[in-house]
Amino acid sequence: MSEVKRLADRWNFFSPPIRPSNREIEEIEKIINVKIGEYKQFRVLILGGTPEFISLLSKYNNCDVVAFDINKSNLEAMSLLSGSNNNFIIEYFIGNWINKYDDLVGKFDIVLADTTMYFFDFPDGWKTCLNNIYNYLRNDGIFITRQLFFPEILPSFSSYFDIFIKSWRSDFVDSSRDNIEQYCADICKLKTLMVLEAADSVTSLDQKKLKKLTYEMIDGIQRVVPRGLLKVAGDALFSPGPSSEGCKCLPVSIPRKEEALVEVKNVGFYLEKDLPGDVLFSESFRTLSFHK
Ligand SMILES: C[S@@+](CC[C@H](N)C(=O)[O-])C[C@H]1O[C@@H](n2cnc3c(N)ncnc32)[C@H](O)[C@@H]1O
Repeated sequence: MSEVKRLADRWNFFSPPIRPSNREIEEIEKIINVKIGEYKQFRVLILGGTPEFISLLSKYNNCDVVAFDINKSNLEAMSLLSGSNNNFIIEYFIGNWINKYDDLVGKFDIVLADTTMYFFDFPDGWKTCLNNIYNYLRNDGIFITRQLFFPEILPSFSSYFDIFIKSWRSDFVDSSRDNIEQYCADICKLKTLMVLEAADSVTSLDQKKLKKLTYEMIDGIQRVVPRGLLKVAGDALFSPGPSSEGCKCLPVSIPRKEEALVEVKNVGFYLEKDLPGDVLFSESFRTLSFHK
């Protein structure tokens, strides 16, 4: 299987809150529509290749899109998932978000990002990346980002895991589509908790317990879920994600929202809108839009 297909298959297992929900995309669409008004042509930079962003943008016929990532295979995989038609051309820019590229300066009306900032140390890495984004925007540009913030109360990963296994044991009696979808949604919640726990210096994942719980879960699931599906879902949950030279794959910082807003404002942005996050984890996932 090609690397692109493998990345696409794995990403397909995720749903909100790991990926943007329909409601979040609708809100972003409203902001874009207000922003572009009567523009003849507008330019968008995406940090990464979020398929939901690409399919949203492919609806406009006056939009030039540049997808910016360190890993070309990921961009190709995300385009595959977006389902946008072949006539929709996306330019790829291969590079590191932490570096400043003169070719991008002052070129964009909109920058879109989906939980990208947690790859950088807070606050120094954030400052550098935010400054770059600020420079890539035209004078009246906007930056829209879905961001993961540390919640006031962290749900416990192991108790969530226990609940998941118990409910699964009683309910997961067949491999119908509904049950598989439910299982995948649960994987996303678990992954989100893992990310939050991994990024917090106070709590730490108990790797031994995690392994034991994982084997218990896999043991039970193997009886009802086709093996191929189980393997991909397991990989999606437990592997750290794509690794490329010069960028970190595991989250290194998830600040509290108030702390993050101070840094964003220091760069020169002002917060235009704080959009509703997804219902689950709504405290930790927020979509924000900033004006230059
Ligand atoms: C976990 S994936 C998320 C996939 C996602 N939905 C997207 O937007 O592509 C994160 C992506 O961020 C990219 N990435 C991580 N750190 C980066 C950096 N410093 N510069 C450029 N791309 C980076 C990785 O190559 C990977 O494709």
